[in-house]
Amino acid sequence: MILENETKATTNTAKTNNNMRYLTFALCKGRLAKKTLELLEQIGITCEEIKDKDSRKLIFVNEELKLRFFLAKGPDVPTYVEYGAADIGVVGRDTIMEEGRKVYEVLDLGFGKCRMCVCGPHSSKELLQHHERIRVASKYPKIAKDYFYNQKHQTVDIIKLNGSVELGPIVGLSDVIVDIVETGSTLRENGLEVLEEICPLSARMIVNQVSLKMEAERIKEILQALKNIM
Ligand code: PRP
Repeated sequence: MILENETKATTNTAKTNNNMRYLTFALCKGRLAKKTLELLEQIGITCEEIKDKDSRKLIFVNEELKLRFFLAKGPDVPTYVEYGAADIGVVGRDTIMEEGRKVYEVLDLGFGKCRMCVCGPHSSKELLQHHERIRVASKYPKIAKDYFYNQKHQTVDIIKLNGSVELGPIVGLSDVIVDIVETGSTLRENGLEVLEEICPLSARMIVNQVSLKMEAERIKEILQALKNIM
């Protein structure tokens, strides 16, 4: 009799797992993904096949836990999450701010810490203080625009660049830049400095708005486990 009940229970669990939908994670390629996977491993969420560097696979699965993972370019992570192609995403706060997608930011993961700053040569400090109409180069035009127009109430010209933004003031493209500062060594080595700090940054977990309701239990369990180890 006991055995019979046990068998029933096992069958029901198997059924539940089979019927369970996959919870999908979109991770920002590179260092953030590596750190995220290390953190998830600490709460018992593993994905062995994602570690195979030679693999050309795009989607990685943990069948047992009904989880799927994929790696994406940072700015695409909030897009996947907003549209529900991923339930959960991990990406830097800078990207979340710049993309402005409709997602819930649920957890500060505490790594990937850096700052969003206005930087330039020391001589540009005065231009900022006197609210001059200056040129601002940035990979983050929305963040730059919001900071200058809505917070500082300073009219500026914003020039979008795609990388090596520090070149802006060096070659005379812009007066200042709005960029990420981590160690500060890129600035130092190029004769630039932090002129104003906009906000602190770090890796954040974001969740699709519908998923947070439909998969509330599973998502909250993951969040709680992460909070417990952090
Ligand atoms: C980022 C950022 C700075 C640098 C800051 O660039 O845009 O250039 O890192 O780091 P640091 O304060 O430790 O020197 P990234 O390496 O992402 O390349 P990119 O310039 O092509 O954006």
